[in-house]
Amino acid sequence: MRVPTPDDFRELETWGLIERPMAAVEAFSPEHEQRREDNERHRRKRREQEESVSEAFLDDTQAYYRSMERPIDRTKWDYLKRRKAWFHPPVGWERFAAPGVSRILDLGCGDGDQTERIAEFVAGRWRAAGYDGFPMEVVGVDLSESRIENARRHARSPHEAITLRFESGDAVAGLDYPDDYFDYTLALGLLEVLDDDLAEPVLDEVARLTAGGVYVRDLLDSMPGFHPRPDVDERLAERGFETRERHRVLEEPFVEEGTRDPLDVWPMNLHQVVFATATDPVPADERY
Ligand SMILES: C[S@@+](CC[C@H](N)C(=O)[O-])C[C@H]1O[C@@H](n2cnc3c(N)ncnc32)[C@H](O)[C@@H]1O
Repeated sequence: MRVPTPDDFRELETWGLIERPMAAVEAFSPEHEQRREDNERHRRKRREQEESVSEAFLDDTQAYYRSMERPIDRTKWDYLKRRKAWFHPPVGWERFAAPGVSRILDLGCGDGDQTERIAEFVAGRWRAAGYDGFPMEVVGVDLSESRIENARRHARSPHEAITLRFESGDAVAGLDYPDDYFDYTLALGLLEVLDDDLAEPVLDEVARLTAGGVYVRDLLDSMPGFHPRPDVDERLAERGFETRERHRVLEEPFVEEGTRDPLDVWPMNLHQVVFATATDPVPADERY
């Protein structure tokens, strides 16, 4: 990926996400999904992505992420933050800004760019409602030390009441937080890189840590080394979370030929976004 220019940022702005953050949900249609399947350019780009998956990743995903060294330049970080916003629509996020919500976890946060977006969303809701805000912690956890360093270097709190914190940690082994510590947990692209032996304990850990609700964004396409889970809503239901919203979204605005991403970062992949809430939430005074 080359360093993005101001023109590249302007091009991303034409996707309309500032005015319509749910644009990917609104724009999705089964017809686009079919046309993507039928389209030679989109099929070729996906084949190229499949072929570029590294042996190290296929051999042992966890070792791959643990040992990854990938410092990221500020301009690329910022571009990817905006680029990824398309396929991470803020479904259910208005609940994060409600009074009483004080802890949000972004599990498998990567470089922390979407963690910053989550905090920005909350700050934006508070400001629009004329609130001063209340103390809130948004915590990003990732297996990769290198990515946590990126997050610490680049992500900034958008509001004085919001603390952004980044820690390395292993969601499979479990995190050092008490039960129901977090009001909401997000897992963006985390479950998709875990086989069932790893994803099941991670889902157990998410359920243990989370009092209010869960947001999942995952790849639905098959891809070597990736694990699409169309049944993720059932797995959440087994753990006491009822799906409120579920959407299919494409990775970028659909165009028949080519891409509207000037850096052409990813193919037109298909994802799901699931927002689920606890069926029997633990009362605040019993939590911590
Ligand atoms: C596809 S990336 C998604 C990153 C980020 N959430 C985003 O949307 O850009 C998957 C992330 O999961 C992290 N990860 C993989 N296994 C993990 C584990 N056991 N515990 C915590 N994070 C893990 C990886 O290090 C990687 O940053």
